[in-house]
Amino acid sequence: MINIPKGTKDVLPADSYKWQYIEDTARGVARAFNISEIRTPTFEYTELFSRGVGETTDVVNKEMYTFEDKGGRSITLKPEGTAGAARMFIENGLASSPMPLKAFYITPAFRYERPQAGRLREFHQFGIEVFGSESYHTDAEVIFAASTFLNKLGVKTRLEINSIGCKSCRAEYNKALKEYFKPRLAEMCETCNSRFEKNPLRILDCKEEGCKKFTADAPKITDYLCPDCKAHFDGVKNLLSDLGIYYTVNPRIVRGLDYYSRTVFEFVSDEIGAQGTVCGGGRYDGLIEELGGKPLPAIGFAAGIERLMLLMENTGAAFPERQKPRIYIAGMDEKTRAAAFKIAAELRLKGINAECDLMNRSVKAQFKYADKLGAEYVAVIGETELLNGEVTLKNMKDGTQSAVKTTQIYTYLQ
Ligand code: HAM
Repeated sequence: MINIPKGTKDVLPADSYKWQYIEDTARGVARAFNISEIRTPTFEYTELFSRGVGETTDVVNKEMYTFEDKGGRSITLKPEGTAGAARMFIENGLASSPMPLKAFYITPAFRYERPQAGRLREFHQFGIEVFGSESYHTDAEVIFAASTFLNKLGVKTRLEINSIGCKSCRAEYNKALKEYFKPRLAEMCETCNSRFEKNPLRILDCKEEGCKKFTADAPKITDYLCPDCKAHFDGVKNLLSDLGIYYTVNPRIVRGLDYYSRTVFEFVSDEIGAQGTVCGGGRYDGLIEELGGKPLPAIGFAAGIERLMLLMENTGAAFPERQKPRIYIAGMDEKTRAAAFKIAAELRLKGINAECDLMNRSVKAQFKYADKLGAEYVAVIGETELLNGEVTLKNMKDGTQSAVKTTQIYTYLQ
């Protein structure tokens, strides 16, 4: 037997309704915020991610599924959705469309990470990206959209926000970080030593215990924000408070991807183990320019669907019922089976979930099967019913039976 690759998961027929529920909820929220769907390829040229997501990130350094195609091009399976969305935006000249441009996606993403609960090598994201607005209102709207989505699913998370400033305040902050970490470098991991040179902010994201003990007392970015970034962050916080969205400011959030500037945020849960961030995002005002477009501000988030699923299952969140036949139509012999088949066909054309026998089962066995499927009604056609043009309809919940004309079944079910 060939097994499923490590870090991937099947969605079984008995579970797919949960996926559909989460995806439908995502689409419903997107509709309410007037956000249109986009779809970008599963793979892109590697350079998009190395330039977009950033050379100093774990995602680019360690986790990408990169290979050469038969034409000798370096290809990478998308590790996230933002870089592809930005590439699509630039390549299709969408900067000339009315701004802001709001897009959402539901996409698989691939990262070569050590699998554990809530961490897979292929996972799925629901993401929203808004291009073209610098206003802090957009930050609040995007955070509100994420919070609405999570609330609709009935999951409880806490929202942590931060501002990591713009290029100019970051330069000051990087200086302060370097001063702080320099005397401690000898005790820190090799990666952090290289981060120290290339991107000291990344050190705050290190998962090594030896490095983490130093980050707690490191300077805080919020003390280094320039007046514009500070005003922007205050604007976001005030609007969130106005909307009744509870948040805490966590100056340690730097996010694992390099394109962020100003507002960053995470929705976190303690119910699903070490991988508690179900949704993360932020502003990326420099990315479009970095990828060759005219400078344009943008902000977005992505929520991990597997983590949400885990959280919903762990906390007993309510899913809708899985799909069930409204009616199962049982025949007894060749002739009545053919009649059952035809009735089911007619109901299906009218959009009714109708089932009938495909296994040559006895009527008793058909009843048993219909019950297992959770059918609401079972209609039986015997010799007499066939002659009279009717069925005996049993309500599987209360056990009542009635004779219903074949032509009236649809109306009866309505
Ligand atoms: P991210 O924080 O890397 O951000 O990923 C977003 C979410 O994807 C995480 O919060 C988590 O729920 C899920 N996720 C990430 N890695 C895994 C994994 N290995 N297994 C399962 N779930 C995972 C981004 O990807 C940004 N593109 C978000 C964004 C959009 N920022 C601006 N716009």
